[in-house]
Amino acid sequence: MRVGVLTGGGDCPGLNAVIRGVVRKGVQEYGYDFVGFKDGWRGPLEGDAIRLDIPAVRGILPRGGTILGSSRTNPLKVQDGIRRIKDNLAKQEIQALIAIGGEDTLGVAARLSGEYGVPCVGVPKTIDNDLSATDYTFGFDTAVNIATEAIDRLHTTAESHMRVLVVEVMGRHAGWIALHSGLAGGANVILIPEQRFDVDQVCDWVTSRFRASYAPIVVVAEGAMPKDGDMVLKDQSLDSFGHVRLSGVGEWLAKEIEKRTGKEARTTVLGHVQRGGTPSAFDRWLATRFGLHAIDCVREGDFGKMVALRGTDIVRVPLADATARLKTVDPKLYEEVGVFFG
Ligand code: F6P
Repeated sequence: MRVGVLTGGGDCPGLNAVIRGVVRKGVQEYGYDFVGFKDGWRGPLEGDAIRLDIPAVRGILPRGGTILGSSRTNPLKVQDGIRRIKDNLAKQEIQALIAIGGEDTLGVAARLSGEYGVPCVGVPKTIDNDLSATDYTFGFDTAVNIATEAIDRLHTTAESHMRVLVVEVMGRHAGWIALHSGLAGGANVILIPEQRFDVDQVCDWVTSRFRASYAPIVVVAEGAMPKDGDMVLKDQSLDSFGHVRLSGVGEWLAKEIEKRTGKEARTTVLGHVQRGGTPSAFDRWLATRFGLHAIDCVREGDFGKMVALRGTDIVRVPLADATARLKTVDPKLYEEVGVFFG
């Protein structure tokens, strides 16, 4: 049996741990051959692949990024994309494909598997943790740790100058990174995409924090939006899945806070620092287990499925269900954290 593996969408810490888990178990236990497709769906689309064997996955467990490269190529938007993928898989005698990705990459895998008969297994990844059907995606824990450390550091410099520090974190549709890192880092305001924010209310919280002789830290997810107005964007360009490039709300909010409170404010945009570097122990553990279970799906011919974490168990869910809706922050959870605002 020959199995193809690809990593698509934004990279995240733990991708290499999945690849290693898949290949180690697949070669050692089942005697499979592996091919790694380069740069997400571009690889099978163009037939660009490398051999993956045990020496190729040695030493990659703690490495961030992906040894296969990644891209946001959408084969469903490419002329003859499905036929080209099927031809290239047949040419390389690939009998199963493991796609490691977020909602877009797995959305393609769901359609290839459900509508076009390509035997796919999905593995959920994204630092945003916004895939439904799994309690956690790997990459999220690392991103939260990085953001928390940054917030810890920003507290001391904010207090030395008695300034407002606005920290913009990733989170396109879901505020999980903002919520977890904001709570862990003791932020005074946390703003998430799921709840539009009132700038005057943010300014009240900022002012009350200063009144207590502390400097406020405001954590804002890149997808958060003010109550009156639209998403604040620096760049209007779209990727091939139709997403705009986010970022800009942090800078905008800092200016509004300065204008309305008269206090000095600065912005830190954490950006891709949250996605880079070595995965946390939790992400290595989760990614490795996802890899081991994904190759078991292949072994059992259980295609059209995604591996998922439920409690401490790894389960299988239909790929189509996994990508049908996003997992966003429950308003009740957000309300719970609100006790620390201001
Ligand atoms: O989807 C994960 C993510 O990190 C989002 O939080 C962010 O908006 C996006 O990717 C950034 O994508 P890119 O690296 O392509 O600019």
